[in-house]
Amino acid sequence: METIQWSDNYSVGVKKLDEQHKQIIGMLNRLVSAPEAKDAGSETITDILTTMTRYALEHFKTEEKLMKAHGYPDLEEHREEHVAYRRKAIDFSTASSLGVEATPQILVTFLFEWWTNHILIEDMKYKAFFAKKGVR
Ligand SMILES: [Fe+2]
Repeated sequence: METIQWSDNYSVGVKKLDEQHKQIIGMLNRLVSAPEAKDAGSETITDILTTMTRYALEHFKTEEKLMKAHGYPDLEEHREEHVAYRRKAIDFSTASSLGVEATPQILVTFLFEWWTNHILIEDMKYKAFFAKKGVR
């Protein structure tokens, strides 16, 4: 699996959110590049996953707070995506720390696809909204 190269395609136009997305992409790239990604219950993977889950939850908070502050009309719909991710990420983290994740590759693929889809499709939906509100 290839690592992700940040480009303007990923920019949602809000500096803080772009910075956080960059961090998340960096963690995804570390996951993909870790040779241990093939071993179930690897400590490295568990560590990256835990850090990533924690960071992602902080990021969701920032995003939702901003949406709320500016009256983003699709906040609820967007929040549901975050809730679903949280559920899944916690399952993964638990499974990984217990060493019961049989195929970490599935997990890595899921995370990779979820984030690229989320940033490029779901998050992009608020780009024009925040731009109109003057949020940068
Ligand atoms: Fe989001």
